Amino acid sequence: MEKEIDEKKQGTSLVLEHKEENTKKLFIESYGCAMNFSDSEIVASILTEQGYNTTQNLEEADLVLVNTCSIRDKAEMTVRKRLEKYNAVKRSINPGMKVGVLGCMAERLKSQFLEEEKIVDMVVGPDAYKDLPNLLKEVEEGRDAINVILSKDETYGDIAPVRLNSNGVNAFVSITRGCDNMCTFCVVPFTRGRERSREPQSIIEEIQDLWNRGFKEVCLLGQNVDSYLWYGGGLKKDFDKATDMQKATATDFAQLLEQCAVAFPKMRFRFSTSNPQDMHEEVLHVIAKYDNVCNYIHLPVQSGSTRILKEMNRQHTREEYMELVDKIKRIIPECSISQDMITGFPTETEEDHQDTLSLMEYVEYDFGYMFAYSERPGTLAARKMKDDVPEEVKKRRLQEVVDLQQILSEKRTKRFLGQTVEILIEKESKKSDKHWSGRNSENVVTVFPKEHYKEGDFVLVKVTDCTTATLIGEAVGYGPMQTN
Ligand code: SAH
Ligand code: F3S
Repeated sequence: MEKEIDEKKQGTSLVLEHKEENTKKLFIESYGCAMNFSDSEIVASILTEQGYNTTQNLEEADLVLVNTCSIRDKAEMTVRKRLEKYNAVKRSINPGMKVGVLGCMAERLKSQFLEEEKIVDMVVGPDAYKDLPNLLKEVEEGRDAINVILSKDETYGDIAPVRLNSNGVNAFVSITRGCDNMCTFCVVPFTRGRERSREPQSIIEEIQDLWNRGFKEVCLLGQNVDSYLWYGGGLKKDFDKATDMQKATATDFAQLLEQCAVAFPKMRFRFSTSNPQDMHEEVLHVIAKYDNVCNYIHLPVQSGSTRILKEMNRQHTREEYMELVDKIKRIIPECSISQDMITGFPTETEEDHQDTLSLMEYVEYDFGYMFAYSERPGTLAARKMKDDVPEEVKKRRLQEVVDLQQILSEKRTKRFLGQTVEILIEKESKKSDKHWSGRNSENVVTVFPKEHYKEGDFVLVKVTDCTTATLIGEAVGYGPMQTN
């Protein structure tokens, strides 16, 4: 699933096309959300122009960059551990190595990072990657370097990302940056700044390039894709100040998605993440209308209790969310829906928790990403609310939510038994080198014997068996999305 990057992939150093004339070695690794992985591809592209090729060997790196996540305390702890590892390598084997911290932790901790972690030479926030050449010069001259300025209009639309760790089939394309929602638990608005959208033309051009290189599926990325709005540049919140002409010619998410679907009829499209408050009906009609737009919506809700939703500053009630889900199911009957859920938000009672469980039963989510509440410094919840649900209660409630999701996933997966589904082959199955693994439109992982098929093929698979979240079957021919 594209939303959270596979745990096993987290942190892996990345390889890219090598430029012969480049002599310096870059070791880059990423933690956290898909946006961070996508940003690392932009960073790699910028550094390729600065004489760097990537390496997977930390011990030979001239420059080590770690793209960091601040979303929960645990994510930050993981990065601190990696810094210890770099330190050990620097001391014992590679004294010349320079270390830079990118992403959300860089933005959150700023110069504090340089004080706390002596190993760190450079701190670069998510909007400052174009300044990397200057910052590197500072570092080469022996000074610490920092740029954590957030931007009103940076979208990196003019940078062609270098595809890292790619299977040549799936790619992320970012369409918005930042978030204006200010959910009270969330650090993202502080680390990634205000929301801005990328020019549609540059998005189409990036997809064209991917298509030319044989990619078959694109996931349009943003913290809140449904809020996408291009009116000539600038922040979403400044749209009011746009001219009448700009307003009349603006592009919203449904229009962008439709443009993509029409321009590339044989490319599959997904998108992530949808915020319920911004999801408009038009998007649902675009999904329903185009076979190449997948029947899958990641629709985080965080809690099933209206009272908690209000405390979280989510802009909808439990009932409004249910109405949206009804609408999705009416317009796209096959649609898979997944959730993000937080257990143990401040003041959450057993009754609130039961509301979460009953909402899950109502929606019958296909998948879920579930977390115990982790207080983040600087957020409204941290400043105004006591983190008063005991850790063991948070954990127990989390387990109940996870267990219920397991049951729901199994039930949802079973609906495909006996059906024939169209799968895009992405990679070899983890469990067997004789099987392919891919996903159907509804985002369910499916494995089947390889036969003569290859990665990037669209294949019709007759489903004969399943586990909780995986379909098992046999190929019966190429699918309608196959191009040759
Ligand atoms: N709109 C974003 C959400 C980013 S955060 C997106 O593109 O996915 C991803 C998820 O992490 C959130 O939906 C929420 O469920 C979880 N999360 C965020 N802050 C958290 C916190 N302080 N504690 C626990 N989980 C949190
Ligand atoms: Fe965070 Fe809420 Fe935005 S979860 S990323 S503030 S939609």
